[in-house]
Amino acid sequence: MQQTITVGLLGLGTVGSGVIEILRDHQERIQHKTGCAVTIKSALVSDLSKPRDLHGSETTLTDRAEDITRDPEIDVVVEVMGGIDHTLTILLEAIEHGKHIVTANKDLIAQHGAELYEASRKHQTDLYYEASVAGGIPIIRSIMDGLASDRISKMMGIVNGTTNYIMTKMAQEGVDFDSVLKEAQDLGFAEADPTADVDGLDAARKMSILATLGFSMPFQLEDVEVKGIRGISLEDIRYAEELGYRVKLIGVAEHDESGVSVSVEPSLLPIHHPLSSVNDEFNAVYVYGDAVGETMFYGPGAGKLPTATAVVSDLIAVLKNIRLGTTGTANVQPQFPNQLKAKNEKQTKKYIRLQVVDEPGVLNDITHIFSEYGVSFDQVIQRSTEQPDSRELMLMTHLVSDEDIEKAKQDLEQLPSVQAINCIYRVEGGN
Ligand code: NAP
Ligand code: HSE
Repeated sequence: MQQTITVGLLGLGTVGSGVIEILRDHQERIQHKTGCAVTIKSALVSDLSKPRDLHGSETTLTDRAEDITRDPEIDVVVEVMGGIDHTLTILLEAIEHGKHIVTANKDLIAQHGAELYEASRKHQTDLYYEASVAGGIPIIRSIMDGLASDRISKMMGIVNGTTNYIMTKMAQEGVDFDSVLKEAQDLGFAEADPTADVDGLDAARKMSILATLGFSMPFQLEDVEVKGIRGISLEDIRYAEELGYRVKLIGVAEHDESGVSVSVEPSLLPIHHPLSSVNDEFNAVYVYGDAVGETMFYGPGAGKLPTATAVVSDLIAVLKNIRLGTTGTANVQPQFPNQLKAKNEKQTKKYIRLQVVDEPGVLNDITHIFSEYGVSFDQVIQRSTEQPDSRELMLMTHLVSDEDIEKAKQDLEQLPSVQAINCIYRVEGGN
């Protein structure tokens, strides 16, 4: 039986150096659990001249991917370099050479997961990607193993740390969106180009991975409806608090008799909902199983050691499979086709903020439009604005379809007394 497993690392940045550190610090524990020793033979980097702390390991650095993908001594390739097309080519080559893959790359898995799965299946190799969703939270393993006996009908996640940090600071310190984003970048927390985080794309990639696994259906990124947090104002955060809600960027994947839907959008959550108290850069995923009921998984969604913990746990799974001769068997294809709900089948509650002219009959005109589409209200608040002749209206609806709310919005835009439709956000949780 194989006593030492040899690893090739693609990338030696934040996560890659964390992997080396954890393997050094937890070497004995890993050997006890798996019966194998692990050595990292080589690591791919783009700049060989950069100074590195290899934590005493004798890893050789290279800038040629084939030194790893074609090295017959390497059993497992750990991909922590990022990138999509070029990285896909490298990993497919590694799989063709019989290497097992562990990756933290959500962009790659969300876009090319099926292709990588197929290649791994063909070559009877392992493919694991726990770190790709919610960093240090073992959410993929929980869905695939812990809840394997149940039917998951809903998952809601705060799966992007940067946006959760921004929303928390806005709510707790009253700082506007642009200032918090700048602060997060100065702290090195948000990326220099925060587009994928702020516009919801990063969360959408993670939700498409969770939906694929949780519902055993193939989801593409294009199946996810995405709205980011750029338009969030301090007013909406304050009004939401008044109504008993917090505003968070929430990914929701739902499955019922009429079909499935996956979305990422700023949403109002009741203050007592477990996801409402997930603050700063923390992540959490709420999973509803028909048998188990409500569960929630909470922890750090990013960072060197939390993310490396997930990567090394995947590596341990591969080591066990190698020892047991069961590699490639965990790669199960989705069982069902995905039946995405049409707009008239997606029912949610909505929060709407309008600026209207302050004159008799306005409220009547507005409620008339909503009632034409069968929309009724749970709560209504009216506030004065800085302009004496206008008022702000905050409306919270009962369940309404996306189609009806869109039609009502179009009609409202035609009303001369409606000066602005400031926002329409989803409302989650509650009755
Ligand atoms: P990083 O700090 O930027 O490190 C990337 C590493 O890959 C660097 O060592 C870099 O080389 C190397 N690299 C990049 N492109 C390369 C190329 N074309 N050829 C050769 N080497 C290349 O990135 P990271 O934060 O560790 O993230 C790595 C992956 O983990 C990404 O997929 C990311 O989405 C995922 N992830 C990260 C976190 C986190 O908290 N950071 C959390 C979850 C998932 P040089 O060192 O020479 O520049
Ligand atoms: N940019 C991501 C976040 C990193 O803010 O959550 C972890 O995937």
